[in-house]
Amino acid sequence: MKGIVLAGGLGTRLYPASLPISKILLSVYDKPMIYYPISTLMQSGIRDILIITNPLDYDNFRKLLGNGAQFGVNFKYQVQFEAKGIADAFLIGESFIKNDSVALILGDNVFYGKNFEKQLKNAVSKNNGATVFAYEVDDPCAFGVVEFDENGRAISLEEKPSKPKSNYAVTGLYFYDNKVVEYAKTLKPSKRGELEITDLNKLYLKNNKLTVEKLPENFTWLDTGTHDSVLNAANFIQKTEKATSEKIACLEEIALKNGWISPETVLENIEDFKNNNYYDYVRNYIIKMAQKV
Ligand code: DAU
Repeated sequence: MKGIVLAGGLGTRLYPASLPISKILLSVYDKPMIYYPISTLMQSGIRDILIITNPLDYDNFRKLLGNGAQFGVNFKYQVQFEAKGIADAFLIGESFIKNDSVALILGDNVFYGKNFEKQLKNAVSKNNGATVFAYEVDDPCAFGVVEFDENGRAISLEEKPSKPKSNYAVTGLYFYDNKVVEYAKTLKPSKRGELEITDLNKLYLKNNKLTVEKLPENFTWLDTGTHDSVLNAANFIQKTEKATSEKIACLEEIALKNGWISPETVLENIEDFKNNNYYDYVRNYIIKMAQKV
């Protein structure tokens, strides 16, 4: 399975902070926002990742992430020249996806929870249809909303409804079979002029090919689209990392756990980064790994 991080758009809701640089490169506590969605793809076992950027920040994304070798993955980059909608990712990414299945994650989405990796790997292993995740929220009007029947089956989807049929938001992480490109090509822009991801998911729903998995109550999903939500996310990450003594979305750690890179290579890569909390954590993690053997 391939992966796409959609990190285009101008993030105008975060201006002036995001005027000189994409909001997705701004930090959420101790690392850039994009580390979080990348970590989710890596936890899913996905190594071929396309990063879709806006034209202005293309070089900045490349400067931060390079070709991905430092995390044992392969990054490719493409520009979205206009924010035409989330489903546009599959038109831009067609030649990258080729005949594969694909996961899409929004650049401003943070996922954190126990056993999530199992749910992710489960979604990756299905090679037919689509899987999305639903999370209970207080303000469903701001999201794509899914309605369930009494047996817990998804029966309707609506994008930012004024009268939501449930409190379940569809999160910004989507797993699709290869039909997604063909379906994306049939979409027409919505009233707000976007190729809507919800319209794409409706096609899977109509064909009985959509699995909607509810994320448990003790799970945390954050969409960092506003100043308040960025701050909330940063506070959550800080509190959780201090309480557990573990970092969330430490890409080197995930690569090491997945066996995608050797400790020696990581140590060599980060040799120059001294007196730095993030890289000290990576070094300590490697020491702990060695002690366990
Ligand atoms: O976060 C989950 C929600 O994301 C879903 O519940 C909604 O169904 C889905 O439409 C989306 O809603 P948002 O209002 O959060 O989408 P937004 O336009 O803010 O875009 C989300 C991210 O995707 C944002 O960081 C910028 C990026 N993006 C968006 C569009 C429309 C692009 O890179 N290109 C685009 O064309």
